[in-house]
Amino acid sequence: MILPTPAAAARPTVRPLLIGPVVVDPPVLQAPMAGYTNFAYRQVVREFGGAGLLATEMIAARGARWLETHRGENPDRLWGVHDEPRPLAVQMWDNDPDNLAAVGRRLAKDFRVSVVDLNFGCPVRQVTVKAHSGSWLLRDPARVGEIVRRVVEACDGTPVSAKIRLGCADTCRTAVEVAQRIEEAGASCLTVHGRVAAQFFSGAADWDAIAAVKRSVSRLPVVGNGDIDSAETAVMRLTSHGLDGVMIARESLAKPWIFAQTAALLRGEPKPPDPTPEEQYELVLHHYDLVCRRFGADRGTLLMRKFACSYAQGLPGAREFRGQVSRVLSQQEFLAVMRTTFPGRPGGGDFSHPGLSKFETAL
Ligand SMILES: Cc1cc2nc3c(=O)[nH]c(=O)nc-3n(C[C@H](O)[C@H](O)[C@H](O)COP(=O)(O)O)c2cc1C
Repeated sequence: MILPTPAAAARPTVRPLLIGPVVVDPPVLQAPMAGYTNFAYRQVVREFGGAGLLATEMIAARGARWLETHRGENPDRLWGVHDEPRPLAVQMWDNDPDNLAAVGRRLAKDFRVSVVDLNFGCPVRQVTVKAHSGSWLLRDPARVGEIVRRVVEACDGTPVSAKIRLGCADTCRTAVEVAQRIEEAGASCLTVHGRVAAQFFSGAADWDAIAAVKRSVSRLPVVGNGDIDSAETAVMRLTSHGLDGVMIARESLAKPWIFAQTAALLRGEPKPPDPTPEEQYELVLHHYDLVCRRFGADRGTLLMRKFACSYAQGLPGAREFRGQVSRVLSQQEFLAVMRTTFPGRPGGGDFSHPGLSKFETAL
């Protein structure tokens, strides 16, 4: 009798996720997050590795169409998309099938994105009440189906996916019906965040409800999302709910290496350790450098405040650092706060670091 080796025994059996012709391997996805998943963040995630599919921030299809016809420009949020590595998904929102089809066609044809993703999960008032889009549409499964059908036609072979919540509210849990319409309309993948929109982020994600959505469709791959806070949880969710993939959002802002750790566990390898405090310090400076190159020092510094706060999350001394970094106005101030209060600074004192040399002119 051949006994499995310990490594083979520990290795979970997980298949790559297929989104149409796009192979997502491992089936661990980086979630779209407005205001965060810009090109710099995506580059950081890509450098660590382990995410099978990356996603942009959502773009407003109406705004994208207007910019193109009036100014011949693309939304800021598409910056970098044309040239960056694939696979990459671009997410968009609207309630008008014409707008979504037109922008979807461009994303597929001109940008050659790997996947065009449709947002039916956003709970924010500006998108729901004001624009009857995002999670608002979950109350109208037929319209969701119509939108998906039109975008699938327009994308002409580029796969289309959708991201939903369980419903608008507890009294309107429509995810199963919506998922069935999405499948009938020809989508290639569905991600389900296990909360209703009215919850925003309160309570716990309901993974049994996500699994029920998966059981209600026949061929549509379903990705689960919500509250994954470690590589171990990602593997557990992936292997115990009959799903085709998992998506990670908030935890990856503090730990963009979570995808690499998850991928290692899925290969049956030991989990790589978190970067050392000094490496995390270096990482923040690297991320800051990417952001400043794109947006310039002033805007880059303001934008970097929230990323720096996320990186410090859970580290001893994070509170003091967050209090200070969230008020910085210039590159000099940012670097000074990094040098004196970032929780990962070596030795815990005021210090100079090789990573700072990129910013010599600001010091
Ligand atoms: C700051 C922020 C921005 C988000 N922006 C988007 C977005 O643009 N599109 C989207 O589909 N979901 C968006 N989400 C929701 C996440 O993709 C994800 O569904 C949710 O955070 C639950 O996953 P988590 O528990 O891993 O964070 C956003 C979430 C956060 C925290």
